[in-house]
Amino acid sequence: MNIIKSEKISYTYPTYQEDNDEGKAAEIKPALRDVSFDVEAGQFICILGRNGSGKSTLARHLNALLVPNEGTLWIDGMDSKDASKLWDIRGNVGMVFQNPDNQIIGSVVDEDVAFGLENIGVPSEEIQRRVAQSLENVGIAKYAKSSPNKLSGGQKQRVAVAGILAMNPKCIVLDESTAMLDPRGREEVMETVRKLNKEQGITVITITHYMDEALMADHIFVMIDGQIAMQGTPGEVFEREDILERAGLRLPQICQLAHELRKAGMDIPKGVLTADELKEAVVKAVQKNAD
Ligand SMILES: Nc1ncnc2c1ncn2[C@@H]1O[C@H](COP(=O)(O)OP(=O)(O)OP(=O)(O)O)[C@@H](O)[C@H]1O
Ligand SMILES: [Mg+2]
Repeated sequence: MNIIKSEKISYTYPTYQEDNDEGKAAEIKPALRDVSFDVEAGQFICILGRNGSGKSTLARHLNALLVPNEGTLWIDGMDSKDASKLWDIRGNVGMVFQNPDNQIIGSVVDEDVAFGLENIGVPSEEIQRRVAQSLENVGIAKYAKSSPNKLSGGQKQRVAVAGILAMNPKCIVLDESTAMLDPRGREEVMETVRKLNKEQGITVITITHYMDEALMADHIFVMIDGQIAMQGTPGEVFEREDILERAGLRLPQICQLAHELRKAGMDIPKGVLTADELKEAVVKAVQKNAD
């Protein structure tokens, strides 16, 4: 089943018309142009693209923070333009943003995680149960009574994820949520969402500039200039150097090394993505050469 279905959506930000030097109104470029895609329930999707390619604009459509000017976006079967469904949509799709310090409201971790539930009037026993479960799921139960100020960036982002989880969402969208974290914090957050995806079947959509994170996804969208220029599995996408170059993206290190070895004449099969796969391919190629 498709949890998200987009049919030719376009979006242009409303801006004041500024005159350029010749006195003509400056051209306003759409941030999204005719974008169509499907996300199946339970998928792990990664959106890649250079600065300004439209990734965040697309993300903001996924929980109806923005609605398309043209085309239609269905979220769990609901048209995102249907104002009467807004709170259902927001409950189904939670967003984690970039800055861990901007997302925490409560002065105690468990109060922060409870915030969304209190807003929708969930009974207090149920709140307690769901908050405890969510904190457990992101691995920070022992900080339930701590001040969020005392947590690391990675832990704060996991509190943000717990706040979303408490709402029982079907889908979590992370817009560069690891960008401000050190390598360890990034790993904590990615490992947490990977687990939620695999064990609870929550659909995950991540936006990142880290190619290594993209390798975790089932499916990658590559955005260029407000459009999805290519989509496919990591193995498919990272073989398309032409499109990656147009999109301003680098290959993940392992793919780059595999590519260099292949260029040097070594028999490395396509679609190698991990260090283990590359090691195996190199050993095989060397053995074959020795025979
Ligand atoms: N609030 C806004 N008002 C007007 N234009 C905007 C606004 N936000 C984004 N844009 C424009 O829309 C286009 C797409 O921006 P968007 O933020 O979606 O890109 P992005 O891929 O998320 O980039 P980044 O990697 O820098 O986060 C850009 O041309 C940008 O200048
Ligand atoms: Mg962005």
